[in-house]
Amino acid sequence: IEIASRLAKGATSLEALREALAGFEHCDLKRGARNLVFSDGNPKARVMIVGEAPGRDEDIQGKPFVGRSGQLLDKMFAAIGMDRHSPDSEHGLYITNPIPWRPPENRDPTPAEIAMLKPFLIRHIELADPDVIVLMGNWACTALLGRAGITRLRGNWQTVLGKPAMPMTHPAYLLRNPIAKRDAWADLLDIQARLRGAS
Ligand code: URA
Repeated sequence: IEIASRLAKGATSLEALREALAGFEHCDLKRGARNLVFSDGNPKARVMIVGEAPGRDEDIQGKPFVGRSGQLLDKMFAAIGMDRHSPDSEHGLYITNPIPWRPPENRDPTPAEIAMLKPFLIRHIELADPDVIVLMGNWACTALLGRAGITRLRGNWQTVLGKPAMPMTHPAYLLRNPIAKRDAWADLLDIQARLRGAS
């Protein structure tokens, strides 16, 4: 963890942070993965989404949220006029994960893995400097709030690095439990209101 902290803090740009992660040899997950999944979207966007970990499609493409969950994520944010491919900061989205390599067989990351990679995530947020963070699911909450329990946390603004952070249920969960989309919609509207300065 000390090595991770030192490397992460030494990175003064997103490109340098990506390189620091690519050269980080102390996490076993790296050995089982095909690609580093660092981020996607517009790094200048006002909204930064922190997900879980790459799955099969993400591992192959080297980009976060490109599989089924990602398609739903894109649809959800499109509903409030946001798109990872938008070059403007108002409508763009920046996307990353607390875990940048696919865990074997998509197993959950261990608390030790989350802790080891956390300095990179913190630095990632500092360098992207969004106005609002979305904590997409339990691992983002574990990494950045120090606790899980997304069903209780969702919909309630938290503070991460001095910034407003909204926990939401992960799209993979919404795919299995479509009824929960109603809550996710409410959270999206709350995010939109916050961006407009109304909440
Ligand atoms: N789910 C995530 O949380 N992140 C990804 O990159 C893909 C699926």
